[in-house]
Amino acid sequence: MNKKVIIGNFKMNILPSEVIEYLKKLKEDVKNSNNEIVICMPYVDIPYSPNIVENTNIHICAQNMHYEEEGSYTGEISVKMLKSIKTEYIMLGHYERRKYFLETEEMINKKIRLALKYDLKPIVCIGSNNSLEDELNIILKELTKEEIIKIIFIYEPIKSIGTGNIIDKNIIDNKIIQIRNILRKRCDNYENIIIGYGGSINSDNVIDLLEDNYIKAILVGSSSLNEQEFSKIVNSI
Ligand code: PGA
Repeated sequence: MNKKVIIGNFKMNILPSEVIEYLKKLKEDVKNSNNEIVICMPYVDIPYSPNIVENTNIHICAQNMHYEEEGSYTGEISVKMLKSIKTEYIMLGHYERRKYFLETEEMINKKIRLALKYDLKPIVCIGSNNSLEDELNIILKELTKEEIIKIIFIYEPIKSIGTGNIIDKNIIDNKIIQIRNILRKRCDNYENIIIGYGGSINSDNVIDLLEDNYIKAILVGSSSLNEQEFSKIVNSI
């Protein structure tokens, strides 16, 4: 199978003491994999992580950041803070951020632009709006084609997140084709853009999901919390 980007999302789980053990084991267990692995972890875990995964195919990602560079935003974290602790990727627009923290597509657009300005690679979750076209038009507002190509897009149907049920594979493939067609209007080298899927992926269903070539990346939530299960997913691709 072609090389994929495999993204784990710890959400609000895994303590710093646990992330150290997790990454040490993961590094060993996936050392023969050609896939790119990105771990979206809580902010407090990040400072402990880059040294452990240095010179491997495992990369560190934060789960959110503020859309302003700095200022009076109590409780928030800035792009410069994340860069200063060697964060490489940033996950933006996750459905849980939109649902529980009322994040809008306009905010996601500002965050993407700021991330790109600071060379933080955006992983952008889409599928929360009924219209993919409307959603992409807002979140990609004022972005150049050179910027759009740097984004990893993850299609996450709301009914598949945390439910144990993946929606029909044909629907997923069609959505990915639809996303590609929307991006094509903005970007002539759209074929190089990484578009993936997320929601209820585990080591039992991942092979069927990836049997053709539409899905170039996967976002794994609860199945990434167990290191053995996650490395099984990575090694089965
Ligand atoms: P899940 O979460 O794999 O537990 O469904 C996916 C996600 O992070 O959205």
